[in-house]
Amino acid sequence: MTDSAKDEDRKGDGTRAVRAGLPEPVKHEPALPGPVFAAHFHLPGDVTGPYVYGRDGNPTWTLLERAIGELEAPGQGDVETLVFASGMAAMSSVLFSQLRAGDAVVLPSDGYQVLPLVRAQLEAYGVEVRTAPTGGDGQLEVLDGARLLWIESPSNPGLDVCDIRRLVTAAHAQGALVAVDNTLATPLGQRPLELGADFSVASGTKQLTGHGDLLLGYVAGRDAEAMAAVRSWRKIVGAIAGPLEAWLAHRSIATLQLRVDRQNATALAVAEALKRRGEVSGLRYPGLPDDPSHKIAAQQMRRYGCVVSFTLPTRARAERFLQALRLVEDATSFGGVRSTAERRLRWGGDAVPEGFIRMSVGAEDPEDLIADVLRALDESAE
Ligand SMILES: Cc1ncc(COP(=O)(O)O)c(C=O)c1O
Repeated sequence: MTDSAKDEDRKGDGTRAVRAGLPEPVKHEPALPGPVFAAHFHLPGDVTGPYVYGRDGNPTWTLLERAIGELEAPGQGDVETLVFASGMAAMSSVLFSQLRAGDAVVLPSDGYQVLPLVRAQLEAYGVEVRTAPTGGDGQLEVLDGARLLWIESPSNPGLDVCDIRRLVTAAHAQGALVAVDNTLATPLGQRPLELGADFSVASGTKQLTGHGDLLLGYVAGRDAEAMAAVRSWRKIVGAIAGPLEAWLAHRSIATLQLRVDRQNATALAVAEALKRRGEVSGLRYPGLPDDPSHKIAAQQMRRYGCVVSFTLPTRARAERFLQALRLVEDATSFGGVRSTAERRLRWGGDAVPEGFIRMSVGAEDPEDLIADVLRALDESAE
């Protein structure tokens, strides 16, 4: 780490979050300038300067990109961040800009449920796709000759964790690039670029923005050539963030540390309460000291996320539990200030039991939330 990176890192996460990406103060101007709505910008003469056409660049993105970059890689000016219309747009930009027909890519077998669709598309383009589980660093086994390793740690929804540094070392030793999906951890929970990854990619739809009211994604990376290809992909595909979404995201990042600390502390408390219930099996939360992921999570994560996964004995029991909850909405996604939970298998796809619940812990008072969960468990028993 350089001296400026160390100085930046010495500041607390709350300080860095409230100030992230802000421009130098200008008299009579707001601290965070409002969204710039523009399809095109005045452009007399030659095509120069940062803002020419709204699909290529926008000042509201620039501030947000700076904010996310400061959190993903404090004080490291060589890191470039690009925002996208959604997490999937960000993921696709890396996969489809880096891979060519004949290349091999390693994906997690237990990652986000849209990955099988991504796999089918990559295969249609002649890319060889290999998969292996996140836990136990299973992806190491199928790395040989791959061009790109895609890591999702913690994995969604199973919450397994892999040793990112170990996988990066193995991948780099044979010339493969590494991307880490940092959605669940957020940049305050994990910094994949410091762990050696080439790209940190995330859905900003989740805890990064935290209000469940916008879709967003980003890619942060240090390799200028690779990032130029990602930028070009954004321009070609046009999967760009709207200025209002970008501005709302930036405004929301000011409370990131508050939300993350509150939600993650409550997630641990919820997990501890669930641990004492006989009808709950397969409980996972990387912050629980006896969780199978805890040891490696504690080495590479600074916070453990707001998602808790567990299994109730049957599908019917899980459905009754979800119906009985009053403070937890039955909805997908995660990371928002309002708690949500869902029976994950209703979507199909994930290799989880019928009664598997993924719960996203919000910013409610922990006592209220735990009381609601315990009451719903009691009421859903036959
Ligand atoms: C781990 C993970 N990565 C990526 C995505 C995709 O993000 P988005 O829905 O913003 O496209 C999701 C969405 O749930 C996710 O959970």
